[in-house]
Amino acid sequence: MNDGVGGRRVLVLNGPNLGRLGSREPDVYGATTFADLIAECEKTGAELGLEVEVRQTDDEAELVGWLHEAADRKIPVVLNPAAFTHYSYALRDACAQRTAPLIEIHISNPAAREEFRHTSVVAAVSTGTIAGFGMDSYRLALRAITTLP
Ligand code: DQA
Repeated sequence: MNDGVGGRRVLVLNGPNLGRLGSREPDVYGATTFADLIAECEKTGAELGLEVEVRQTDDEAELVGWLHEAADRKIPVVLNPAAFTHYSYALRDACAQRTAPLIEIHISNPAAREEFRHTSVVAAVSTGTIAGFGMDSYRLALRAITTLP
């Protein structure tokens, strides 16, 4: 149900400030850089027979556009919406249009952090949520994709 060549295509989409992983609040998000994250997702994808493409943007409109692309092409999505998680109804409405599994993920556990992070406006329109496992959140989400139709 997708137009990928080779393995099943998956988009791993990342929202604002995640391009700064490695230097950004390492006590919260760890020392892994965004470049490391791309390599890890591609490696996990290859092990699972998935064709993984990782993207990051600080721009809400760009992220919404990528979700439209995934919906139009029936591509599964692993989405770390970053701060947009907590307030972007535009992102929520884009996720609601999904035509394939969409897994919300977080590196940290937002439920154990500040009050404003306890709300996710995308959770209810996602297939499921994985949070709090560091970079393993991405690996677990990719594995989950392989179990879903
Ligand atoms: C995050 C959690 C969000 O609350 C935060 O705004 C982020 C990263 C995470 O991966 O833990 O930017 O999505």
